Amino acid sequence: MDRLLVTGGAGFIGSDFVHYVLANTDKTVTVLDKLTYAGSLASLDGLPSDRFRFVQGDICDAALVTQLFGEHDAVVHYAAESHNDNSLSGPGPFVQTNLVGTYTLLEAARATNVRYHHISTDEVYGDLELDDPERFTEQTPYNPSSPYSSTKAGSDLLVRAWVRSFGVAATISNCSNNYGPRQHVEKFIPRQITNVLDGVRPRLYGDGRNVRDWIHADDHSSAVLRILERGQIGETYLIGADGEKSNRDVVEIILETMGQPTDAYDLVVDRPGHDRRYAIDWSKLREELGWEPQYRDFRAGIADTVAWYRENESWWRPQKAEAEAKYAIAGQ
Ligand code: NAD
Ligand code: DAU
Repeated sequence: MDRLLVTGGAGFIGSDFVHYVLANTDKTVTVLDKLTYAGSLASLDGLPSDRFRFVQGDICDAALVTQLFGEHDAVVHYAAESHNDNSLSGPGPFVQTNLVGTYTLLEAARATNVRYHHISTDEVYGDLELDDPERFTEQTPYNPSSPYSSTKAGSDLLVRAWVRSFGVAATISNCSNNYGPRQHVEKFIPRQITNVLDGVRPRLYGDGRNVRDWIHADDHSSAVLRILERGQIGETYLIGADGEKSNRDVVEIILETMGQPTDAYDLVVDRPGHDRRYAIDWSKLREELGWEPQYRDFRAGIADTVAWYRENESWWRPQKAEAEAKYAIAGQ
């Protein structure tokens, strides 16, 4: 598997994976990305030009996708509409990209016999109560809440069907919330960091006690590479790093890191259908594939992330006004 095709490689996690693979292996990488509002060519700066190629295009373009599959040994599929709040205000692109796009890729995998890895989310399992002792496992029934998570759940089910019915050589991973550099400022952690940099108080939905299970994007990338190389065809692997934190905890760490009073935030109108808590049991990945996360210190990871946004205003500034204008409409 020397030649990788990465869809959505100009986005947050896809670009992290591309940087990670090119820094840690001898593989070549082609990125296929439509460059929606969420994609940024600047996220791919500095990559070795002899091992990296960028193709602008849509994963729903069957002719382009089939041609690219034929030129590669494996495909890692990150491209998606990824933001829950956008899926509530406009679900159409989520159905198109996440469902029709995945279907288009699976048909190309079927036609070309190329190895396929599907990137998905823990949100397909719905949510947990704050005091539930259980965490999500590979056996947890699907129960998605939002248009985003339901289209991701549907895309996972398409992959399972194409494996069983057509023998497509696919694996699936479902990961918890990622943080790190190059994440769009619409998302929780970069939104609050860039708000503080702009002198604006962070905004927490509802009571701020919802819990997310945070993992550094580099740990997600190392896990995906491990599954691609050693995972068993047809299997699903959950990826996490024991990073459960309430949104209040996260904002307090950001404020402290940035030298602000830890109560300098506001509670705003809640997200409709807001999932209460996610938590991942990643023991299958550890026991079967020997993977371990490297980033165990969340405060240190946040400090690095704050430093990245401080130093890379030219990367995020062009996104900021549009993202905040969308939140203003929702009163958030
Ligand atoms: P992102 O929104 O930052 O990036 C998505 C990328 O996909 C962008 O570069 C965009 O231009 C591209 N894209 C969108 N529609 C496309 C299309 N039709 N054709 C080609 N390219 C298209 O998303 P992200 O946060 O990096 O998430 C990447 C993947 O990881 C998604 O599948 C998401 O469901 C999954 N995931 C994300 C997280 C997280 O915490 N962000 C956690 C688990 C899983
Ligand atoms: O769990 C994995 C998922 O994590 C991925 O599949 C999604 O692509 C990714 O966007 C993320 O989804 P969330 O909805 O959990 O992430 P978001 O960054 O939008 O919000 C994280 C938490 O913070 C959530 O409880 C909502 C809350 N929030 C968010 C924003 C933007 C706030 O309280 N205030 C905010 O301003």
